[in-house]
Amino acid sequence: MSDVVTMDDLSNEEILSILDDSKRLIPVARGDVHLPLLEGKVLANMFYENSTRTRMSFEAAMKRLGGSVLNFTSVGTSVAKGETLYDTMQMVDGYADIAVIRHPRQGAAQYSADAVDIPILNAGDGAGNHPTQTMLDLFTIMEAHGKIEGLNVVLVGDLRYGRTVHSLSHALIRFGAKLTLVSPETLSMPEEIVRDLRSSGAEISENSDLSGSIPDADVIYMTRIQKERFPDEDEYAKVAGIYTLGSKDMHGAKDGMIVMHPLPRVGELHPSLDSTPHARYFQQAFNGVPTRMALLCRGLGVTIPKEVK
Ligand code: NCD
Repeated sequence: MSDVVTMDDLSNEEILSILDDSKRLIPVARGDVHLPLLEGKVLANMFYENSTRTRMSFEAAMKRLGGSVLNFTSVGTSVAKGETLYDTMQMVDGYADIAVIRHPRQGAAQYSADAVDIPILNAGDGAGNHPTQTMLDLFTIMEAHGKIEGLNVVLVGDLRYGRTVHSLSHALIRFGAKLTLVSPETLSMPEEIVRDLRSSGAEISENSDLSGSIPDADVIYMTRIQKERFPDEDEYAKVAGIYTLGSKDMHGAKDGMIVMHPLPRVGELHPSLDSTPHARYFQQAFNGVPTRMALLCRGLGVTIPKEVK
């Protein structure tokens, strides 16, 4: 019940309430206010795949709220000896109060959630979903635009293997955004996802032209081509570096348009963009801390005070 494996695990009402909680938690996330709401609680950070922001922001979130963290990686543990995910999760069930899991296999988070009693937060399962990233993405969009409804959000790059955009597109449609999907044909959004999005009456257009999509955009969400998910290196070579944005591309953009990226960037965003008012990706990465604080509190059944000071 308190698992978050896909965005379907959260109602629109819950999403808005988590975003509201996150906003109040910003001073705690920055370390300006001490609020040990999760004192005595233990988070297991289960990372079977590389991570910088997701792992560190979950750890920062837990520690800023007075909790502690058990860090697990697949290197240096019994995974190397052949221990199964099921068995490892049985240990975690006894050692921690809540677990975050990232795994290269799609479905691994749901499998873990089914295998244990403690709440599971999916931090990325293969090319599947990444719902906690979506929460910080929604927070960043709301922070910039004050709403989601009616915004034209352009999702760019690897829409096929990119789990961030799979979760995000669902959530954006639920809140009434219009989507422009920009990718090379080989990396287009999986058909079943597009069908699902359209079935709710959403306005979605698909093309491969990034520069033509800039003038009407309220948000441009760039993504990395997910090299590690390609079955063939040559296929990756054909699309590597296909979309890039720099400050010179911002001339025709709306004043309030924001550029987001879940990071890491590997050439999609030229550093010249960083100092423009459009760049939001570092702020977006920081927003992982307050939103994950709110998600941890929700998972552990802890209410965030209406006034945080
Ligand atoms: C993303 C991921 O792991 O899916 N990173 C992140 O969590 N911020 C995006 C990516 O790796 O390209």
